[in-house]
Amino acid sequence: MSGSTIIPWVVGNWKMNPMQSEAQQLVQQFVGLLQENEIAEAACHIGIAPVALALNQVKSHLETANRQIYTVAQNVSCQNGTGAYTGEISADLLKDSQINFVLIGHSERRELFADDVKAIQEKVTHSLASGLTVIYCVGESLTQREQGLADQVVLQQICDLAAVVKAEQWQHIVIAYEPIWAIGTGKTASPEDAQAMHAKIREGLSQITPVGAQMAILYGGSVKAENAVELAACPDINGALVGGASLNAESFYKIAQAFAHTK
Ligand code: PGA
Repeated sequence: MSGSTIIPWVVGNWKMNPMQSEAQQLVQQFVGLLQENEIAEAACHIGIAPVALALNQVKSHLETANRQIYTVAQNVSCQNGTGAYTGEISADLLKDSQINFVLIGHSERRELFADDVKAIQEKVTHSLASGLTVIYCVGESLTQREQGLADQVVLQQICDLAAVVKAEQWQHIVIAYEPIWAIGTGKTASPEDAQAMHAKIREGLSQITPVGAQMAILYGGSVKAENAVELAACPDINGALVGGASLNAESFYKIAQAFAHTK
């Protein structure tokens, strides 16, 4: 069971969306909703992960909000510093632009862009060394779940992480459990199944680091305004990584509100 002091996180993963004018509108609407009805910073961390091209612009729009909203990078290079790496953005460059958060290990990157364990570990190592907070994604496929391998797969992904995180760096890690079969499919893991996996992840983390009991473990996979409250009610679900529903300001706001009020 989690400690009750974990502040939940609600992070919008915009993926390869939307066009610039829409992004601006989306942020303005969201900031407007927060202005009308504030969600206290102490009640919920909120982050938005736009496309790399829009990071700086979204960041400056978010700075007009009445509270802190983190700008999160969706990806980072396996190379750090600066150099001849065409098309890449390093953790140092993100930090230099005051982007302090990054998603690593998302299943779309693992599956579609060949982010293997080695690449993911390099990204984690560089990001932590550059002072970023890493939102590390784990999750099993439907076949793995049906074969009874879900726990094993997810805990192995946690071990992959543990192999490169130094003792003092765990406080800069947030975990996101995203069963692959629930991403963008409209199928959400039942709160019971999600809670069971979160509890296992927490148990695993607690064996690795003393801060494990206090780490935020987010759920991702078709989180919507309609299912946020019941997910938020689960003791080891400390927030949400939201794809599709984060492209609608009102839905995203309601999800943040659900976590802020239920936790
Ligand atoms: P979804 O995506 O909410 O659209 O299922 C979640 C994610 O991939 O982070």
